[in-house]
Amino acid sequence: MKNELRFFVTSGLLSLAAMTMYSEDVNRLVVNSEVKGAEIPSTMYGVFFEDINYGADGGLYAEKVKNRSFEFPQALMGWTTFGKVKVKDDGPFERNPHYVVLSDPGHPEKRTGLMNEGFFGVSFEKGEEYRFSVWARCETDHGSKITVELIDPSSQGESQVMASVDVEIEGSDWRKYVAILSPSETVKDGRLRIFLNSKSAVDLEHVSLFPVETWMGHENGLRKDLVEKLHALKPGVFRFPGGCIVEGTDLDTRYQWKNTVGPVENRPLNENRWHYTFPHKFFPDYFQSYGLGFFEYFQLAEELGSEPLPVLNVGLICQYQNWDENVQPHVDELKPYIQDALDLIEFANGDTLTEWGGLRASMGHKEPFDLKFIAIGNEQWGEIYPQHLEPFVKAIRSRYPEIKIIGSSGPQSEGEDFEYLWPEMKRLKVDLVDEHFYRPEKWFLSQGGRYDSYDRDGPKVFAGEYACHGSGKKYNHFNASLMEAAFMTGLERNADVVEMATYAPLFAHVEGWQWRPDLIWFDNLQSYPTSSYYVQQLYSTNKGTNVVPVTMNGSRVKGDEGQNGLFASGVYDSNDGSYIVKVVNTGKTSQQLEIELKGLNDLEYCETIILESFDGGDAENSLSNPSKIIPMKGILPTYGNHVNSEIPAESMMVFRVAEKK
Ligand code: AHR
Repeated sequence: MKNELRFFVTSGLLSLAAMTMYSEDVNRLVVNSEVKGAEIPSTMYGVFFEDINYGADGGLYAEKVKNRSFEFPQALMGWTTFGKVKVKDDGPFERNPHYVVLSDPGHPEKRTGLMNEGFFGVSFEKGEEYRFSVWARCETDHGSKITVELIDPSSQGESQVMASVDVEIEGSDWRKYVAILSPSETVKDGRLRIFLNSKSAVDLEHVSLFPVETWMGHENGLRKDLVEKLHALKPGVFRFPGGCIVEGTDLDTRYQWKNTVGPVENRPLNENRWHYTFPHKFFPDYFQSYGLGFFEYFQLAEELGSEPLPVLNVGLICQYQNWDENVQPHVDELKPYIQDALDLIEFANGDTLTEWGGLRASMGHKEPFDLKFIAIGNEQWGEIYPQHLEPFVKAIRSRYPEIKIIGSSGPQSEGEDFEYLWPEMKRLKVDLVDEHFYRPEKWFLSQGGRYDSYDRDGPKVFAGEYACHGSGKKYNHFNASLMEAAFMTGLERNADVVEMATYAPLFAHVEGWQWRPDLIWFDNLQSYPTSSYYVQQLYSTNKGTNVVPVTMNGSRVKGDEGQNGLFASGVYDSNDGSYIVKVVNTGKTSQQLEIELKGLNDLEYCETIILESFDGGDAENSLSNPSKIIPMKGILPTYGNHVNSEIPAESMMVFRVAEKK
């Protein structure tokens, strides 16, 4: 039992608990401590990251400059120029050849320069430091100078300049220059301005601005507040990079991991698959700089303590949206795709003397990343998918038999394609099958028993993308997260067959989302967890080590319909000898509950956590009210091996008890 418990003892809870509760209305939940069931896989509750909703560039990836290498199809998109600015394309980075030339405007009162708008603005905070960097050269050996500024264009005060630094450019060879800026004010919608401050011209390439304080201080780093929220989830598995961006809009724009490793300056730009996906919402400036690439994903997974789980293209484009059977590579033409998968395993795990293991080491990680899982194909279906998957399975099995392969059951949670693919995945003997379900409340309420009858000898389940999509155009409201919580009791009770589960999508920028609901929302300065986030957290941080059998009112827990609106699961935690019971009341009335720990004697007090909304099921967290719905800790007395409680209507409760020592 943890000592640092915050004792939120509500008098209501205590007095109710103290009441005699042996009435007809009391729900009796019996946890059989004598049976230690299936081990809960360490990967059980994880996260799935995809660059959707400006999740990477403009989000998790802390770079503040948009189009830093001038490689967008409109080379100056994101930039405003003034004076004499020219774009050239014979720069120092082969795969990103464009750069700008700033020349003397020809009059002492005139200026030449450019200003970057960032992603929904360039934000900066008072008291923080920002690392500006640029590759530059000047036309003569006399040197030239640029001035770099952080600007608040809306400032009504004396000055719009919130930070300024001069950078001397010293010769005609390309070199990287770095300067630190410390803004005097916090600005959300600021700009980065650079102008020529000398007679001789200057060439600029890969213009970059990062907060100095990133997650773990990495220079090519990630936004600290966002990673901290991931870290607090204690994710057991980290799936990346998609989702549909694995497929791309077409095969040319599919996600190719080899383009995302090596020096950031030379990672070629890719169109983001989500930029024109929805006809009513265009995001023409949504590209992938790949500054957050496969090395960074592996490193992040390691720092989060999660198993990395990359998803690779199976040689098919998106069947949902861009299907054209004439452009798919034939099965005989899959060699480069299969080689990419083999090389990725070498990149992650290979000896430093191998080609790809050597690249990993040169990027700063000599030790292997200990990759154990690989997914081939995202949401593919029909006969063509197993046909394409089969040669991947053969090649990976023969070279890396220890790697677990994940196949897909398509985008539907049931139906013809789903029914076809599961036996196919069994035939191919993949280790796990990825299931996706974005479904309404009713579906989640009826599916808590989904895995009770799954084949225990077949592949394991990876619930790789799921979220309750509320009816009535509501998103990320409390009621949807409650449905997820009820459904997840079924994942937990079936931990012998469900090996991992990840909600989707993970992140969304409030000004640039394509898809909702999402787990964590942010703007340029702040972020907040949704109530779905807290549901995930309550499961992942109370995961336990073994399933224990629970019954409700004398019969097995009914995951597919609940009992009096109640859904439940129980686990044992061998780390501290405690038992953890999760109960979700989906009903409109509160319920009395008596929990019996069969097989135990006197219990210590019972720690509780409750997640509920005091403003009804439609309430949600927001940037202005990030803590409207948060878990609250409490404590209840115990009676022998019993705990009595009230479960408020529409709430989730976690109970943790242990026997007295
Ligand atoms: O999570 C959003 C999208 O949903 C994913 O990219 C895709 O796999 C699914 O259709």
